[in-house]
Amino acid sequence: MNLILLGAPGAGKGTQAEMLTQQLQIPAISTGNMLREAIANGSALGKQVKQFMDEGSLVPDDLVLSIVAERTAQPDCANGFILDGVPRTLAQAEALNAKGVRIDHVVSIELSDDVIEGRMTGRRVCTKCGASYHIVANPPKTEGICDQCGAEVSIRKDDAPETVRHRLEVYHQLTEVLKDYYKSQGKLRLVEGNQSIEGANAEILAAIGAKL
Ligand code: AP5
Ligand code: MG
Repeated sequence: MNLILLGAPGAGKGTQAEMLTQQLQIPAISTGNMLREAIANGSALGKQVKQFMDEGSLVPDDLVLSIVAERTAQPDCANGFILDGVPRTLAQAEALNAKGVRIDHVVSIELSDDVIEGRMTGRRVCTKCGASYHIVANPPKTEGICDQCGAEVSIRKDDAPETVRHRLEVYHQLTEVLKDYYKSQGKLRLVEGNQSIEGANAEILAAIGAKL
């Protein structure tokens, strides 16, 4: 099964992708995590994307598309994958389609902008594996330490309130249109994001017809 998780910044895409990857036994491909890793490694790609990410703007389509093409060609994607944070523009969606990437369901996690700003201030992310936590809604078992890999968790640089506002604007200007694009293909599934993490997860599994 090939899935796309759509939604505004902070809607819960990364949190749900981590759960779905365990439940469905298919890898989650988070372009945000991959780009942050490239920056942390000081790679050529990291140097190209750093400024865009720090200011909360989108990275150029061609850079994102090439890392996605490379990742989806790996053997562990043969039985399906979860795209978290991509596509983000109509051009990215059309490029995936042109490359023959089959998409079964597009889950849009719906959340209003005012709830999002509160979520971002409590978010902590693992500096190594990118796992997402929240100091109230989903704290790590040991304060400051990632449950998955034991590395330190910290505040994401683009979670400063003014950067979050810019990311929300970018979402409404460039990404939200993808809901219409996939709706017209009969693939869009809307899920309420303003509920517990477990509640949203159950709604997603039902929306994609997953039997665990
Ligand atoms: P990316 O990393 O994809 O960030 P984003 O889309 O802005 O989304 P977030 O990761 O901020 O939120 P999320 O929906 O994953 O929420 P989370 O689960 O963490 O992109 C970052 C940057 O990379 C972009 O700005 C751009 O520069 C670049 N980029 C990436 N992909 C790109 C692309 N395709 N094209 C171009 N540029 C690209 O949850 C948020 C918080 O809420 C957490 O603390 C979590 O614990 C908590 N939470 C989650 N669910 C719940 C719940 N139900 N109740 C209470 N709290 C909850
Ligand atoms: Mg995320």
